[in-house]
Amino acid sequence: MTTARTIAALRAELTPLRTGRRLGLVPTMGALHAGHEALVRRARAECDVVVATIFVNPAQFGPAEDFERYPRDEQRDAGLAETWGVDYLFIPSVEEMYPEGFGTWVEVEGLTDRLEGAARPGHFRGVATVCLKLFNVVRPDRAYVGQKDAQQAAVLERMTRDLDLELEIRVIPTVRDADGLAISSRNAYLGAEERQAAAALPRALAAGAQAGPDEAAEAALAVLAEEPRLAPDYVEVARLNGRVYLLAAARVGRTRLIDNVVLEGDLE
Ligand code: PAJ
Repeated sequence: MTTARTIAALRAELTPLRTGRRLGLVPTMGALHAGHEALVRRARAECDVVVATIFVNPAQFGPAEDFERYPRDEQRDAGLAETWGVDYLFIPSVEEMYPEGFGTWVEVEGLTDRLEGAARPGHFRGVATVCLKLFNVVRPDRAYVGQKDAQQAAVLERMTRDLDLELEIRVIPTVRDADGLAISSRNAYLGAEERQAAAALPRALAAGAQAGPDEAAEAALAVLAEEPRLAPDYVEVARLNGRVYLLAAARVGRTRLIDNVVLEGDLE
């Protein structure tokens, strides 16, 4: 595995091997876990060259959010990435991605008004902008993203279509722990008690899925109401790029968790 820290260095590595090879990209913010692993392994199975990126993107965090305390452990991440089969690991600095005078932003309208977009103003603008930059730097044939962040996946699918990007967004099913909790870098913030409370979120979504689209939100809220340590932010059924989801966000202590289940439509 080769690590590159500048756009120029990564491009120099990728340019000679582009012809006749399928390139897969897995963008991440690091603190790698089994969810990221599923994306990398799928990319490894489907592509000739696998590029993963680690960049905690300041542009997608709100001023009161966890940018500063977001878990960072580059050495551990590099070891995991190599084990999973990553060929090139791109770890740029903030200055490399947003140099002095940076002033161009990607706004995906409509889709970003609701759910996470409403709860985190500017979040998807930061996500879309950094992903477009990564797509331009790597020029992948396929980019791998998780269903865990279903609205993010839909935003990237929409951007790809609207801006005629020559790549395919592949959405990979959510990887869960034994208690059903969707694996997330932010789960590291949870204490043992909070972790127990957090497991109510996937239980609620499963109950919602069982109840069917019309009753899903109500059924999920009923389960959440039984766990006082968990404060729901939203629980909603929404159609995102052709699939119908039950999506939820909730707070446990200082930690904000999101999760969803597909009610109608197929993933890759
Ligand atoms: P991050 O939270 O590190 O997630 C990187 C990718 O892993 C995303 O596509 C996310 O949906 C996927 N992922 C996370 N947890 C998962 C799980 N339990 N199962 C399956 N996939 C999972 O999402 C981001 O970073 C950033 O917004 C990014 C796209 C890198 C842009 O900065």
